[in-house]
Amino acid sequence: MSLLETEELTKQFGGLTAVDHVNFEVDRGETRAVIGPNGAGKSTLINCITGMLEPTSGRVIFDEQDITGMEPHVAVQTGISKSFQTASIFPNMTVKENVELAALAAEHGSFQLNFMRKRETLDEVHRISERMLDAVELLGRREETAASLPYGDKRRLEIGIALASEPDLLFMDEPTAGMSPEETDATVDLVERLQDELGLTIVLVEHDMEIIFRIADRIAVLNRGSVIADATPDEVRGNEDVQEAYLGGVEL
Ligand SMILES: Nc1ncnc2c1ncn2[C@@H]1O[C@H](COP(=O)(O)OP(=O)(O)O)[C@@H](O)[C@H]1O
Ligand SMILES: [Mg+2]
Repeated sequence: MSLLETEELTKQFGGLTAVDHVNFEVDRGETRAVIGPNGAGKSTLINCITGMLEPTSGRVIFDEQDITGMEPHVAVQTGISKSFQTASIFPNMTVKENVELAALAAEHGSFQLNFMRKRETLDEVHRISERMLDAVELLGRREETAASLPYGDKRRLEIGIALASEPDLLFMDEPTAGMSPEETDATVDLVERLQDELGLTIVLVEHDMEIIFRIADRIAVLNRGSVIADATPDEVRGNEDVQEAYLGGVEL
């Protein structure tokens, strides 16, 4: 059984079918990519899985549990997490406080019936926060105000915030968007390390084909809401439908 499976997942916006009967699966431990032209439905698919959007029909099964239509803060308790754009950062708080707050929110969900464990919860929050700040290489900047971080570090902090719930599965939607080549390289290295060191399963939506071919184990290609290919990087690279849909026939 895969860690995550969607069954005929569909999302309509009025007359537009943004995600069209998608069957998408993710195995534990893999780095999975979703690619496709602009407007293909990549973000809508991820948002339907993580609970940001309610699917029109179909199901989402995570770790053998039906999580279809769960609110994101509920889905996070099952072990699913998404790295959000800078909106999730509290700019006036320090780097450490941002991650601790996210860890506390996640812990509070799991301990909410046991208020007596407050001390243990706070120790746990501190421990998780240090571990995740280390993973995203922000330990040295933990006392700095989030607003003062350079752009690449802010994006890393978002990933740290997403990691604070100790997810099994992390979604990242175009994590390198707007980054310089150096920041992009650092982010790719980070994604690879997260998989190695934290044993994370990662689903990555990415525009940059080079990045995808470098780090993905398997690639699903979306076009107009449908999966037109789902295979290894080498197979996808050679797939004519993909070349046609993605680049209008230009060699990848
Ligand atoms: N909230 C929304 N309301 C209406 N249409 C939307 C909404 N979100 C996305 N769409 C449309 O759904 C399609 C897929 O969008 P999206 O999932 O953002 O594509 P991608 O992430 O692959 O670029 C596009 O045609 C887009 O315009
Ligand atoms: Mg998108």
